[in-house]
Amino acid sequence: MTSVLLISLASCLLMANRAFIIRRCDLAKVLHEEQLDGFEGYSLSDWLCLAFVESNFNISKVNENADGSFDYGIFQINSHYWCNDYQSHSENYCHVDCQDVLNPNLLSSINCAKMIMSGSGGMKNWVRWKLHCADRPLSYWMTGCHLG
Ligand SMILES: *[C@@H]1O[C@H](CO)[C@@H](O)[C@H](O)[C@H]1NC(C)=O
Repeated sequence: MTSVLLISLASCLLMANRAFIIRRCDLAKVLHEEQLDGFEGYSLSDWLCLAFVESNFNISKVNENADGSFDYGIFQINSHYWCNDYQSHSENYCHVDCQDVLNPNLLSSINCAKMIMSGSGGMKNWVRWKLHCADRPLSYWMTGCHLG
């Protein structure tokens, strides 16, 4: 009895942990549905590379920066400039709560990322994208993804 309970508890925890991670092609599908292919000149592969280098596809990722601000969600959106987490001063340019940026439907995250990209620099606003994705062949990110 105890072991059955333990096993189901363990699998629950495992599933809860898994739920944070979106699969690469599932993310491609959402990005495609939100018509991001070609947005500001960037491809879906750029978006996938961005999500991978920022969060490892972890929708719930929250990371504290040296300056006391936090980065939220799959695109690691910063609380000092883009979203408000009510912990420290925020410009809140996206007019969004940082908690919304963690929503599994990804809509707040995507809308805020679009706003960030629309400024000068595009995806170069993400240092990790600039370092790890810019000027590289990226089409393999879409390998095996059928957008239907
Ligand atoms: C996803 O991010 C959350 C919050 O940072 C963290 O607690 C969790 O362990 C991460 N999940 C994985 C599988 O890395």
